[in-house]
Amino acid sequence: MRRAGQVVREVLELVRSKVKPGATTFDLEKAASARLKDLGVKAAFKGYRGYPCVLCTSVNSEVVHGIPSPKRVLKEGDIVSVDFGVVIDGYYGDAAITVPVGSIAPEAQRLLKVTEESLKAGIAVVRPGATLGDVGAAVQGVVERQGFSVVRDFVGHGIGSNMHEDPQVPNFGEAGRGMKLKAGMVIAIEPMVNAGRPDVKVLDDGWTAVASDGSMSAHFEHTVAVTANGARILTE
Ligand code: MF3
Ligand code: CO
Repeated sequence: MRRAGQVVREVLELVRSKVKPGATTFDLEKAASARLKDLGVKAAFKGYRGYPCVLCTSVNSEVVHGIPSPKRVLKEGDIVSVDFGVVIDGYYGDAAITVPVGSIAPEAQRLLKVTEESLKAGIAVVRPGATLGDVGAAVQGVVERQGFSVVRDFVGHGIGSNMHEDPQVPNFGEAGRGMKLKAGMVIAIEPMVNAGRPDVKVLDDGWTAVASDGSMSAHFEHTVAVTANGARILTE
């Protein structure tokens, strides 16, 4: 799973380097899929429940599962969330980043910073004996103290020889509640944070989830192993 995580990280960093005003989200898709071809590695998302691409690219008020398109031109001030996974020798890695396009508004910068910090806070409580409620409460606390909202309609997940395994890993909850983590478990923690209200709706393409109020949304994700010494981030 570490090998899968390293490829996920390499490709996400490649995609980050391609994000600029004038690029399309399909340019990002092409860069990622070409690199995968060179490496001989299989993408996790393409073909999953009929999903057509290797990346999800979600712009501005799109929360998750935006489909790359040659018609979607990135412009200065946008933010784009890029979610990506691979499978190597039967084991999955999954991660996401949100990237600024050129220079972005201070409020958008704050949204990216807080969302990434909330992921770090969730990871920081991971250890054997901690509960999923501890993780969710840590993420939610960081987000809500800054006046932003945690999306409830999508959650993180166990990951291993499938991309999505039990348990669900909510980005909200109460400390002390929920299943206890054990050494050897691997989970994907993936806060999706809206600048406005938490509600989302899915567009007519059947995939793209957007913030109902049109506010900007950010997404950061890591695949994280639970070890005796705490979290080991497999996708950094
Ligand atoms: N990357 C999502 C997750 O983090 C899953 C994407 S589903 C797909 O769990 F169909 F878009 F691939
Ligand atoms: Co995931």
